Amino acid sequence: MTETKYRPRRSCLYMPASNTRALEKAKSLPADTIIFDLEDAVAPDAKEEARANACAALQSGDYGDRELVVRVNAMDTPWFAQDLKQACLSEADAVLVPKILNADDIIQITDFMEDLDANLDTQLWAMIEMPQAILKLAEIAALGPQQRLTTFVMGFNDLAKEMRADHDRTMFGSVMTQTVIAARAYGLNVIDSVYNDFNDPDGLTAECVEAKTRGFDGKSLIHPAQIETANRVFAPSADEIAAAEAIIAAFADPANAGKGVIVVDGKMTELLHLKQAKQLVATAQAIEPLAQ
Ligand code: COA
Ligand code: MG
Repeated sequence: MTETKYRPRRSCLYMPASNTRALEKAKSLPADTIIFDLEDAVAPDAKEEARANACAALQSGDYGDRELVVRVNAMDTPWFAQDLKQACLSEADAVLVPKILNADDIIQITDFMEDLDANLDTQLWAMIEMPQAILKLAEIAALGPQQRLTTFVMGFNDLAKEMRADHDRTMFGSVMTQTVIAARAYGLNVIDSVYNDFNDPDGLTAECVEAKTRGFDGKSLIHPAQIETANRVFAPSADEIAAAEAIIAAFADPANAGKGVIVVDGKMTELLHLKQAKQLVATAQAIEPLAQ
């Protein structure tokens, strides 16, 4: 399974699938991705109802072009098998599995998805939130899209808990970089963790800027008020687009025909920068038709 076209995942909004008001509201929210949560945001007594709500939402056809993802309960819970089955039958774009430990977990899940006759396009997303997974990042990522695995989603609330550490963002820098490197080595997407203080736009902006700088595709969100910030920060800026267009134009200039390195705006610019510039413009073009 390989994605042929860039798909924006700037804003990936979680909502407890037990919250029907949130599910309804999401139909008109400008999030690129909606994650119907069956796991930590849903109390044990509400698990079955949440699963039914998520399936109904998936089948409703009311979410437009948004990418629809179901976060199932972890593999060692009594809900996992039914969650995965129903999400696949309801044709979610992706199933997000929490508490992944290693490559064997991924193989077990994709084997199960084959047994369920899941649509070949149904992706597997993995939460990176357990210390064991951090130690096995390369091995997990290497399974890649051939095993349906397309996306890593960071989960720092759980990781901090498992590490018995304070939830202090500064200590996750190396983990973020390791995760991006493992993801990119095998062609995966990578989404940053949530920002819990949804009434603090400045703090959110700072985390989005940091994540974008480190190479992340987008951010996990928990509240509608966070969408606009993530959409803005993870989209190429007007300055970035102008700089990319200048590089494309310079390489297209007949005077530079056949050259591998030229000077654009006073800076050394190589063919790799041309490739990057084309990618950035393609990203901007994919985002342009979206509401924001
Ligand atoms: N998705 C969609 N709609 C949401 C939403 C979400 N994640 N969070 C809040 N809303 C809606 C509310 O239903 C409310 O809608 P209304 O105006 O139609 O009544 C509106 O946005 C304003 O919500 P607000 O009152 O500010 O928040 P709240 O107190 O109802 O909820 C949370 C706060 C944190 C409990 C809620 O945002 C939430 O459940 N977030 C997701 C948690 C989650 O999924 N966690 C798992 C991943 S870590
Ligand atoms: Mg978690």
